[in-house]
Amino acid sequence: SFPLPIPLKLLVLTVATEETDGFLRFMRSADYFNYTVKVLGMGEAWKGGDVGRSIGGGQKVRLLKNAMEALADQEDLVVLSVDSYDLIFAGGPEEILRKFQQANHKVLFAAEGLVWPDKQLADKYPLVRTGKRYLNSGGIIGYAPYINRIVSQWNLHDNDDDQLFYTKIYLDPLQRESLNMTLDHKCQIFQNLNGAVDEVLLKFGTDRVRVRNTAYDSLPVVVHGNGNTKMYLNYLANYVPNAWNYEHGCSHCDDDVVDFSQLKVGEYPNVLVGVFIEQPTPFLPEFFQRLLTLDYPKDKLKLFVHNNEVYHEKHIQRFWEENRNVFNSFKVVGPEENLSQGEARNMAMDLCRQDATCDYYFSIDSDVMLTNRQTLKLLIEQNRKIIGPLVTRHGKLWSNFWGALSLDGYYARSEDYVDIVQRKRVGVWNIPYMAHVYLVKGSALRNELKERNYFVLEKLDPDMALCRNAREMGVFMYITNRHEFGRLISTANYNISHYNNDLWQIFENPVDWKEKYIHSNYTRIFTENYLEQPCPDVFWFPVFSEKACDELVEEMEHYGSWSGGKHQDKRIAGGYETVPTDDIHMKQIGFEKEWLHFIREFISPVTLKVFSGYYTKGYAIMNFVVKYTPERQAYLRPHHDSSTFTINIALNNKGIDFQGGGCRFHRYNCTIESPRKGWSFMHPGRLTHLHEGLPTTGGTRYIAVSFIDP
Ligand SMILES: *[C@@H]1O[C@H](CO)[C@@H](O)[C@H](O)[C@H]1NC(C)=O
Ligand SMILES: *[C@@H]1O[C@H](CO)[C@@H](O)[C@H](O)[C@H]1NC(C)=O
Ligand SMILES: *[C@@H]1O[C@H](CO)[C@@H](O)[C@H](O)[C@H]1NC(C)=O
Ligand SMILES: *[C@@H]1O[C@H](CO)[C@@H](O)[C@H](O)[C@H]1NC(C)=O
Ligand SMILES: *[C@@H]1O[C@H](CO)[C@@H](O)[C@H](O)[C@H]1NC(C)=O
Ligand SMILES: *[C@@H]1O[C@H](CO)[C@@H](O)[C@H](O)[C@H]1NC(C)=O
Repeated sequence: SFPLPIPLKLLVLTVATEETDGFLRFMRSADYFNYTVKVLGMGEAWKGGDVGRSIGGGQKVRLLKNAMEALADQEDLVVLSVDSYDLIFAGGPEEILRKFQQANHKVLFAAEGLVWPDKQLADKYPLVRTGKRYLNSGGIIGYAPYINRIVSQWNLHDNDDDQLFYTKIYLDPLQRESLNMTLDHKCQIFQNLNGAVDEVLLKFGTDRVRVRNTAYDSLPVVVHGNGNTKMYLNYLANYVPNAWNYEHGCSHCDDDVVDFSQLKVGEYPNVLVGVFIEQPTPFLPEFFQRLLTLDYPKDKLKLFVHNNEVYHEKHIQRFWEENRNVFNSFKVVGPEENLSQGEARNMAMDLCRQDATCDYYFSIDSDVMLTNRQTLKLLIEQNRKIIGPLVTRHGKLWSNFWGALSLDGYYARSEDYVDIVQRKRVGVWNIPYMAHVYLVKGSALRNELKERNYFVLEKLDPDMALCRNAREMGVFMYITNRHEFGRLISTANYNISHYNNDLWQIFENPVDWKEKYIHSNYTRIFTENYLEQPCPDVFWFPVFSEKACDELVEEMEHYGSWSGGKHQDKRIAGGYETVPTDDIHMKQIGFEKEWLHFIREFISPVTLKVFSGYYTKGYAIMNFVVKYTPERQAYLRPHHDSSTFTINIALNNKGIDFQGGGCRFHRYNCTIESPRKGWSFMHPGRLTHLHEGLPTTGGTRYIAVSFIDP
């Protein structure tokens, strides 16, 4: 850097009537570089029109004019007048002053490639060989006396257009010369993003992140999300100037956090939890259990449930009966109310808005499986107006946020989307759209977001409507991926015509299926050799959870057509069974595909472990549940199975559900008398393992059997 010819002072002037999230971000970037900033108009009513959609902004010139009067004769003062709601600094004051001096003019305006607001004036602009041709009033830098000479000409209304005012002065050749004005054509200082998004890239340094303009190979100091580029600025500002980089990660994530360690449990914030069940959803009882196990005092939680599905009324009824007194309050709006989703969401959010004691509104859809019990606390800690935890579909890039929007307002992939979803970049991210689960501050609902109907807007989905409203109100939405929070389950292809429908979810939601239906000690088979060999080559291991056993039995009893143990059997090839059991085939309840998948996923690995060198195809034709009772069929005579190996899973408890039972292997004179619920035998089917089912003397015994690799 060059020494400055004369020591200049830089003063930043900006107009802001409210401390919006954008304003606070601007101030953070200014403070980071030690700019001296004077804010004009704070607390004043804004009368400058809706600048986002139409002309306006004159109020900014009036305020600047007033402020400049006192500075008019300070010749060594350089004034930088910038917007603040949609603008950040990417470099410091020395750099600006140096670049300003290099420009060798008294006043420098930001430039852009689009002419606004009066397209007719385009021809009047001086030609430029390269660079942006048109003036943008979001950034002006100049010596105080010259700036004063410009703004002192203002005598228009607050809602007249500021950019048009400056444009007319600039386009007047006499004034242009006498005021020694030019535009920052090549974005040395000012980067307007409108029409220039494709020109800019993030440039990561060790401490700082900058924006590089690739068209002019410049590093602009002021980055302005003018026009409809606010979201793109939000993306850049997730990094620039020092928000996140590869070396240090997130640098503001722990600023202004709510410190729970300073709070007694009785002082925890009050949260209204809105639960939305808008379509048949697998694993709903598990969803409610997770809500219950959130690490948060339940008397600080009020629960609002919107259930749109008659199918789920039984689940909610059960949860309500068991837990209605656990929460501070518990309100259910059922399908009989026929509320639209948008209206239900409006209603829930409004309950928090109208209740001055409601500190936070936590909205969660039934397809969100929060596996992190700390989720609510972690979100509150971040102290944002709107923040959601990242949740993703297992093994997919599908998540609950978008990093960018397409022009028509739908999904577009941001450059960092995949890294955020995969947690390669960890932090708290300002994003344009989120759904499924988020936390909103009650105070924001009573201020910036005080209208009631945010979820209903044109034909948008309710969450898209909310996000658009929040964006338009200038409220930033964040997603945090600082922790693992949980996952999104799939509600597609959820067939609710069975009795226990989650059993069928092995393909659509494999993680949740495993958690619900596979024995919690199953993985220990592989890590700790957690299995037994009660008879030679008969292996015994845990595979099904209690729920899997119970639901499979229920499913069979619900179906009800037990075969009766007859030799004639139309269900099998040949129509004759030499050793018949009283059973129902998986195929009969439409569970064959799912069952075979279960065998491949959970039985094959055990086979490989205990019969090493044998690679099972995991194929089976005979898959069935057998019922033994003294009244019908109590035992099965000695026989071989038509399988390479057989699995036999006990589905209920000896001594509780039945007496007697067990299995005897003749060659070894070895009997297993006390089968364990959820545990499976695995033994060779032929030659060595002639076996029989011992008599069930009381109650009813159920087992699930497969003849594998017949
Ligand atoms: C801002 O000022 C502080 C305190 O004087 C100093 O430590 C810091 O390095 C300065 N920041 C920059 C970016 O120059
Ligand atoms: C503008 O001002 C600079 C010094 O700041 C001077 O060198 C230059 O000649 C001036 N240009 C015109 C057209 O007056
Ligand atoms: C439910 O509401 C929709 C529109 O909101 C209406 O078309 C429908 O008839 C209503 N159904 C019942 C059962 O009231
Ligand atoms: C749902 O399951 C039933 C019973 O197995 C079956 O008849 C029906 O075709 C299935 N529906 C869909 C959409 O897959
Ligand atoms: C898993 O094994 C442990 C002992 O090793 C036992 O205490 C626990 O009950 C088992 N879990 C189930 C679901 O049986
Ligand atoms: C089989 O074992 C039982 C008890 O363990 C024993 O009483 C019986 O004599 C054995 N039978 C043969 C044929 O070894």
